[in-house]
Amino acid sequence: QTLEMELETIEKGGYDHFMIKEIFEQPRSIADSMRGRLKAEDAHLHLGGLSNYMDKLAEAKRIVIVGCGTSWHAGLVAEYLFEELARINVEVEYASEFRYRNPVIEENDIVIAISQSGETADTLAAIELAKSKGAIIFGVCNVVGSSIARASHAGAYTHAGPEIGVASTKAFTAQVTVLTLIALATAKRKGTISEETYRQLLIELENIPSKVERVFENASKIKEIAFIFTYARNFIYLGRGLNFPVALEGALKLKEISYIHAEGYPAAEMKHGPIALIDEDMPVVFLATHDSSYEKIVSNIQEVKARKGRVIAIVTEGDTLIPTMVDFVIEVPKTHEILTPLLSVIPLQLLSYYIAVMRGRNVDQPRNLAKSVTVE
Ligand code: G6P
Repeated sequence: QTLEMELETIEKGGYDHFMIKEIFEQPRSIADSMRGRLKAEDAHLHLGGLSNYMDKLAEAKRIVIVGCGTSWHAGLVAEYLFEELARINVEVEYASEFRYRNPVIEENDIVIAISQSGETADTLAAIELAKSKGAIIFGVCNVVGSSIARASHAGAYTHAGPEIGVASTKAFTAQVTVLTLIALATAKRKGTISEETYRQLLIELENIPSKVERVFENASKIKEIAFIFTYARNFIYLGRGLNFPVALEGALKLKEISYIHAEGYPAAEMKHGPIALIDEDMPVVFLATHDSSYEKIVSNIQEVKARKGRVIAIVTEGDTLIPTMVDFVIEVPKTHEILTPLLSVIPLQLLSYYIAVMRGRNVDQPRNLAKSVTVE
């Protein structure tokens, strides 16, 4: 027993929990997910595991992405990436829903399965079904040699390293990174991206790990915010565009480990329901980075403030407007809009972690949840 405890302490590398260790590992895990695949100075981008299928990807009329939980959120980010960069129609499906419908899958459709563990029963069953209908299956898995990786025709591992905390953190950012690489490589092959944007994005991808590092400089501020909201009963997370899936992921992180009820919504949907919930007891987290939906987010913030909601905004460094409107701001460095989720999700992971710790929760093994769901 004592030996086991000591081993665990060593594995946590001086951190209190695996989750916080894994959050802080992200500069490295993101870099690892690009290692050997990307070299911006030579404009080099190559995914060995997909190289035989790049033409199929470029010719694809449709991509269906399947996953569960956090992996499904990474799929939602990928939807924007493939549509924006490669102009391919993408559908993102909960694996559990997809497998029990009678989904329309045609020969040569591409199905991307996203799974940290590579063992999620619903995701595995979804790709077996798609395979039987003639689809080409790509796996984006973290665990090498896992069932989903083996059942796929091809794929790209995320290489985030073992993730022990039940709430996924570094696996998510590695998934988003790898999916960005796949979308970029496809766009290049198809000619749907300008040389300039392509190069810019490669360079900016390489800058992401050090920018994640910069987000960590806000950790003590995030802890203070967590302290203030420790006993909140509900939370709303709002974002638009690429930050919409981030809002969903932020809400999921909070409910998983702190057991606070939280909902993520596209900010524009607020007026169709959630706005009725807003009063001085409702904390609202806005993903309000300086991107193409900035002005719209600003007016959504005004709507919440007019109803006395308490707003925590994730903003781009140097924003001078939003800090005058809201209760708390957390800055993230500026990056290319396409890569925003890799930075904006980090403060949300930290916020959930600190709130859960302050509530005395078992953050690494929350009640009723399993790291890998191999049964239905
Ligand atoms: C479980 C885990 C989540 C994970 C989901 C999908 O619910 O608790 O963290 O996102 O399964 O797992 P996968 O291994 O397929 O990514």
